[in-house]
Amino acid sequence: MDLNAVKNLTSKNYMNVFSRRNVCFVKGEGNVLTDINGKEYIDFVSGIGVNTLGYNHPKLTSAIINQAQTLIHSSNLFYNKEQAILSEKLLEGTIFNKLFLVNSGAEANECAFKLVRKYYKLKNTSKPTILTAIGSFHGRTLATLTATGQSSHYSQYAPLPEGFRHVPYGDFQALKESITDDVGAVMLECIQSRNNITVAEYDYLINAYAYCRSKGILFMLDEIQTGMGRTGKMYAFEHFGIQPDIITVAKGLGGGVPIGAVLARGSVAKAFNIGDHGSTLSGNQLACSAATAVVDELKNGLLLHAEQMGEYLKNKLAFFYKYKFVEEISGLGLLMGVRISDKINGNHVVSMLMNRGILVNVTKKNVIKLTPPLTITKEEIDKLIYELDLIFQNTNL
Ligand SMILES: Cc1ncc(COP(=O)(O)O)c(C=O)c1O
Repeated sequence: MDLNAVKNLTSKNYMNVFSRRNVCFVKGEGNVLTDINGKEYIDFVSGIGVNTLGYNHPKLTSAIINQAQTLIHSSNLFYNKEQAILSEKLLEGTIFNKLFLVNSGAEANECAFKLVRKYYKLKNTSKPTILTAIGSFHGRTLATLTATGQSSHYSQYAPLPEGFRHVPYGDFQALKESITDDVGAVMLECIQSRNNITVAEYDYLINAYAYCRSKGILFMLDEIQTGMGRTGKMYAFEHFGIQPDIITVAKGLGGGVPIGAVLARGSVAKAFNIGDHGSTLSGNQLACSAATAVVDELKNGLLLHAEQMGEYLKNKLAFFYKYKFVEEISGLGLLMGVRISDKINGNHVVSMLMNRGILVNVTKKNVIKLTPPLTITKEEIDKLIYELDLIFQNTNL
């Protein structure tokens, strides 16, 4: 089957929601993807921050193969050894006491919202509102798109669930004034990355956290993109020295196998009881074995590698400030953005890089977004910098 055949079948059968680039990948090895025509690309997208270990990583591949040959799924009607092992590994050494496994980021946030509501139900307190930030992204289910602080995501889907309000990101005073008696929790991202790549100001996050503490309400972080080593620490909140009550993770957890988690601490961690929540596929043996391989790798040196490669990438990218159309380089670890003048079409830069065998993403049309596998090497980063520099040299502005 060639690219045109794939495109024709897709447009005939698949609901038309994705704006896809003109390429179909059929294979991955290390940090390199191969398309249907045999062309290779060094990957700085990693399936949108998912393929933590790159492609065909021996530990992940063998964990999946072994588990597939043993038992893929038995449901949560029964005990599950792989789920028990992963849960212990995810929680050990953290501030969290309990978790629930899900299949995606949106599901993790849905579960977290239910957990908050159940927590206040048990306390006999009416605090139905969750504050989230303008510009945030929390998913595409009804509750999570309502929580998402971008009207383009929710404007067509009324009636929306109640109980969410948006406040400006980075503005502590506005947040403080919005925490009225009905507010039970605040959910933020340490890095907003749907538009620009915006790392929360240290003071903002610390103050938001401390104020929630002082008001006795829950502080939650959506770490779906920033968790699992993406920022050079296991979770991005560790950069800020705060202790959220709940975090949600997904994307990188399974290294490409769908799995997410809600991690909670203190009494909110114990709010769910039998029947309060569930999911048929969640935490099945296959997904848990894959995630365990990822977590093991992170703890066995990959986290340190990601931190070092993040520093290396940031230092190399700083070189581009020599171009006056490069307006901002931002991010943490291996979640970086290069914002260029909006007079340049970022999609054009992406296409030129793809012609040169480098895969990157673009947000908001002019922010080049880099989320490579955490296994990315110095040589691969050097290649990106070299090719991007050649493109920038020939950009007339
Ligand atoms: C911060 C954040 N939250 C939630 C989600 C939703 O995750 P999923 O697409 O797995 O439902 C995403 C996905 O991009 C995300 O980046």
